[in-house]
Amino acid sequence: MKLVIGIVRPEKANDVLTALYRAEVRGVSLSRVQGHGGELDRVETYRGTTVKMGLAEKVRFEIAVSDEFVEPAIEALCEGGRTGEVGDGKIFVVPLERAVRIRTGETDHGAVTPVDA
Ligand SMILES: Nc1ncnc2c1ncn2[C@@H]1O[C@H](COP(=O)(O)OP(=O)(O)OP(=O)(O)O)[C@@H](O)[C@H]1O
Ligand SMILES: [Mg+2]
Repeated sequence: MKLVIGIVRPEKANDVLTALYRAEVRGVSLSRVQGHGGELDRVETYRGTTVKMGLAEKVRFEIAVSDEFVEPAIEALCEGGRTGEVGDGKIFVVPLERAVRIRTGETDHGAVTPVDA
């Protein structure tokens, strides 16, 4: 199992959700975050004052999936999230040790996007 973390533009969150649904990835959490892409701080002149660019609003998807769904989840994040401009976001895939469905006590593969969804 993996936890796929995708950080995208807020205005692309619905497109990502649609793409995930089409890919039959079930189960997702979203949160608003603020981030920085790591680029050298651009400096802009605003009303005569020189200011550093600040943090950007992003939406963070967390998607726990069986290994079979890692690529579909990544593709959905890319398809739904891409504009082609800088700042489209980033995807991180991390190992996921356990998952538990509280209602039933099902664990692991039974508790994340099932292979035969
Ligand atoms: N190394 C990182 N660690 C954690 N979060 C990151 C990292 N890089 C980017 N992010 C998050 O992703 C958001 C979008 O990053 P961004 O798309 O600017 O990445 P980038 O690598 O600069 O790519 P681009 O060149 O397309 O701008 C950031 O605002 C931040 O929330
Ligand atoms: Mg960037």
